[in-house]
Amino acid sequence: MNEQVIVDGPPAAANVRTSSLKGPPGLVGARNLVRFATNQLTFLRGLADRYGDIVEIKLLGRPWFLVNHPDDIESVLVKHARVMGRDDYASVLERALGLGLLTSDGELWKRQRKLMAHAFVPKRIQSYADTMAQVTGGAIVGWTHGQEINLHQEMSRVTMEVVAEVLFGAGVGATDGETVRQAMEVINEFFANSPEAIAKLPPWVPTLRNLRVKRAVAQIDELIFRVIARRRAGEHRDDLLGTLLAAEDETGARMSDRQLRDEAVTLFLAGHETTALALAHTLFLLSKHPDVERKLHAELTDVLGGRTPTADDVRTLKYTECVLKESMRLFPPAWTTGREALEDVTVGGRHIPKGAQILLSQWVVHRDPRWFPNPEGFDPERWRDGRAEAIPRFAYFPFGGGPRVCIGNHFAMMEAMLILAVVAQRFQLDLLPGQILELKPSVTLRQKGTGLKVRLRERARRTPKS
Ligand code: HEM
Repeated sequence: MNEQVIVDGPPAAANVRTSSLKGPPGLVGARNLVRFATNQLTFLRGLADRYGDIVEIKLLGRPWFLVNHPDDIESVLVKHARVMGRDDYASVLERALGLGLLTSDGELWKRQRKLMAHAFVPKRIQSYADTMAQVTGGAIVGWTHGQEINLHQEMSRVTMEVVAEVLFGAGVGATDGETVRQAMEVINEFFANSPEAIAKLPPWVPTLRNLRVKRAVAQIDELIFRVIARRRAGEHRDDLLGTLLAAEDETGARMSDRQLRDEAVTLFLAGHETTALALAHTLFLLSKHPDVERKLHAELTDVLGGRTPTADDVRTLKYTECVLKESMRLFPPAWTTGREALEDVTVGGRHIPKGAQILLSQWVVHRDPRWFPNPEGFDPERWRDGRAEAIPRFAYFPFGGGPRVCIGNHFAMMEAMLILAVVAQRFQLDLLPGQILELKPSVTLRQKGTGLKVRLRERARRTPKS
C-alpha cells in the first residue's frame, strides 16, 4: 500500500477467489461475529480472497452472504431490487431519521422517492452550486497560514454548513445552526461508535448515550417543526425544503409535517457526513501525493485562475473529478451496503433463502485487482476516458445502484468538487509528522480517534481571471 494506512489487522491474504468452499465453518457463527466486530475491513477482504465471489457466513445462527462479483452485485441491486428489503441496521437509524428515504421500504419509500426527486433534478442541483461555493469560502475564511486543523472535523463543519444552507437557506440563524451542529454530532457519534447502536439496545434503556441521543433528536425536531410551521404560515424560500414543501404526488397530496421532518433529517445526516469523509480522505491522499496535487492545482489555475467555481466549471474540472473518484475508490465513505432477501432468490448461481442478510462491500470490491490493477495505489488517471470504460459497471459503486441508488449522488459530486476547488485554490494541507491514517469502519468509513491533523500552507494569492 502506498499510503501509511492502518486498517484493523494484518493485510488480507493473496487474492485467490477460486475456492470451492462456500464460506468459513461454524453453525452458529459466534466466532465469526467476534471477528466481524473487531476486524471488519480485514475480515471481509480475507473472506473474499479465500472463498470467492459469494461467501456464505453464519452470524449468530443467521445466514449472511457477502457478494463480491460486479455482475452479482448488479443482480442484487438492480435485477432483484423488488425482493430486497432494508437490512437490519435500518431499525437503529430510524431512531433519529424516522421513516425517511434511507430507512423506509415498500409503498412509502416508492411515494417518497418520487416526491424527493423534485429536489434532485439536474437543474435544481445546479442551482445550489453558488451557495455551496460561497458557504465554503465563508467557512474557511478564518483559516490562516501555519494553522493546525483537524481534517475530518473541519470538513464535517464545512459540509454541515453547506447542507444547512442548501436545505433551509437563511431560515436557520446562527444559534439554531450551532444547536443542530451539536445535536448532529451526538447522533453521528451514536451511530458511529456506540455499543448501544451495535447491540441494537432499545431506546428506553436509560444509558447515558441513549439519553443524549433522545435529547439531540428532540432539539432537532423542535427546530425543524418550527421552520416548517413558519413556511406553512406563508414564509417563502427557494431552498431544498421549499421544493419538498411544494412537491405533490399524482393525487395532488403533499408531505405531512412528520414526513418532511424525517426527510430533512435524513438529508442532513446522509448529506454531510459522507461528503465530509470523501473530502477528508482526498485531502489526506493529496498531502501524500505531491505529483497528483500539482496536476490538480494546474487544472484549477487553468480553469478558474483564482475565481470562485460555478456549476459550469464542475463540467470542465475533469482531473478534479478523477481525483475524487479515485479517493472514493480507495476510501469509500459508504463502505458496505446491506439488504435483506424478502424472498428466496438465486444470485450468481447460488440459492439465497428468504430472510438472509446480503452484504455488498465497496471496500472489498473497489480493491479487487481483477478490476483495478495496482489496487492499493492512488492513480486518478485510471478514471480518464479510454481507461475507465474497461472497469465493469458494478466494480465501482460508492453511491450504490439500482432504484435505491443514492439520491444525492450528483449533488454530492458537485458539492465535493466545489469544496475541493475552493479549498485547494487557497491552501495546501501538510500532514503533521507522525500522522497515520487509521480507519474506523462504522456506518461510514471514518478516521479513528480524533482524526488526522494537518498544517495549512497558504498558496500564493493570484488576481482572479475576470
Ligand atoms: C460522497 C457522498 C455520498 C456517498 C458516498 C453516499 C452513498 C450512498 C449510498 C451507498 C447509498 C445507498 C444505500 C443503499 O443502497 O442501501 C445512499 C443512499 C442515500 N443517500 Fe447518499 N451518499 C453521499 C451523499 C449524499 C448526499 C449529499 C445526500 C443528500 C443531500 C444523500 C442522501 C441519500 C439518501 C436520501 C439515500 C437513500 C436513498 C433511497 O434509499 O432511496 N447522500 N448514499
